[in-house]
Amino acid sequence: MNQVWAVVTGASSGIGAAFARSLAARGHRVLAVARGSDGLVRIAEELRKAGGVVETMATDLLSAEGVAATCDKALALGDVELLVNNAGLSTSGRFLEQAAERELQSIRVKAWGPAGRRGGHSGPMVRGVKHRMRASRAGPGAKSW
Ligand SMILES: NC(=O)c1ccc[n+]([C@@H]2O[C@H](COP(=O)([O-])OP(=O)(O)OC[C@H]3O[C@@H](n4cnc5c(N)ncnc54)[C@H](OP(=O)(O)O)[C@@H]3O)[C@@H](O)[C@H]2O)c1
Repeated sequence: MNQVWAVVTGASSGIGAAFARSLAARGHRVLAVARGSDGLVRIAEELRKAGGVVETMATDLLSAEGVAATCDKALALGDVELLVNNAGLSTSGRFLEQAAERELQSIRVKAWGPAGRRGGHSGPMVRGVKHRMRASRAGPGAKSW
């Protein structure tokens, strides 16, 4: 079992749930994030039955409070090695026929949410993950960010 955590947003269904399963199977501890708690409870129970270590966070990543609470929880867990920035809205059909507000919400969840900008600086989730990744790359051939 790795001691490091992977944060998976949109982990309650679809691609995010598949990421959560795959990472847990590889020994990562998983912080699973989505709005609805029912889907999160289901995936957490499934992964724990399989021997995984899972924490859940039911929150809306469209809200500044939701992003901040997720960042705080992720950093409180300890070593966060990986952020799977997957939460988003699925749309289908022709782009020009989509509702503009729904497209904008999707962009906000994917791009603005995890960055969680505060006071003009990248949010703690991104900075925390970058810091851990930089540390894990230390040594010959390590690249600086
Ligand atoms: N499936 C495809 O063919 C495809 C193609 C291109 C891109 N994508 C992208 O891949 C990602 C996953 O797609 P999917 O098909 O797996 O979609 P999905 O089954 O609808 O899953 C979306 C996940 O994001 C969560 N979510 C949505 N809005 C959220 C918010 N505001 N705050 C927190 N969590 C939120 C959902 O849970 P809650 O509803 O409980 O919040 C759910 O866990 C999406 O970003 C999608 O745009 C998918």
